[in-house]
Amino acid sequence: MPKTISVAIDGPAAAGKSTVAKRVAAILNFTYIDTGAMYRAFTWAVMERGLDPEDEKASCSIIPEVTIDLLEDGRVICCGQDVTRAIREPLVSGNVSYIASYKDIRLALVDMQRAMAQSKSVVMDGRDIGTYVLPDADVKIYQIASVETRAKRRYDENVSKGIPTSMEDVIADVRKRDYIDSHRAFAPLKPAEDSVPLDTSDLNIEEVVDAILNIIHDKTGLEIPCH
Ligand code: DC
Repeated sequence: MPKTISVAIDGPAAAGKSTVAKRVAAILNFTYIDTGAMYRAFTWAVMERGLDPEDEKASCSIIPEVTIDLLEDGRVICCGQDVTRAIREPLVSGNVSYIASYKDIRLALVDMQRAMAQSKSVVMDGRDIGTYVLPDADVKIYQIASVETRAKRRYDENVSKGIPTSMEDVIADVRKRDYIDSHRAFAPLKPAEDSVPLDTSDLNIEEVVDAILNIIHDKTGLEIPCH
């Protein structure tokens, strides 16, 4: 069997990781795994049951009953329900960092992520992919962008999806998540030592995709198909 290749893309909230990771995976015919969507789906499950996401014990109590499926077409199914849209709502975005800071929930989701990445080529994006989930990934990229750029991107994304948002709220949410994600005790957001930093503040999506494809080619020798 030919060797599989794993690509880890980490970085702070709204750095544009999922958009480019999806494109890169499609060009290379790799499987795309959106780990942020899994933390979001878990947050949705906690809130749907009327539990408080700031209550670690209550949130962790539902680990055995929560199922999460990432479908090839991008839909996210949690406990049998299509939550693709619900997990992008401000209510979930504003609470997901609490859920992502609970060690037991992380361990359960990391098990699922490693199982998904087994024996196939993947592009996986998140916060701890290169440092913790796939420490042996062939390519590790740490994608950053200024707070203003990231907030503008998240704002435009919400507007295009018809999700009511204000720019002030998005900036506050991005800052809050940066803080919680990088200060949590277990598997915090930080660049892997062997990651390639990529600042996308002044790049458009196609430029970021090309930069990542070049890094993958340099690191693995993989021929990049015309796209
Ligand atoms: O990438 P995103 O905004 O959809 O991620 C949602 C939240 O999940 C974010 O606050 C950080 C957290 N997360 C994480 O802690 N580890 C990951 N591998 C992916 C996301």
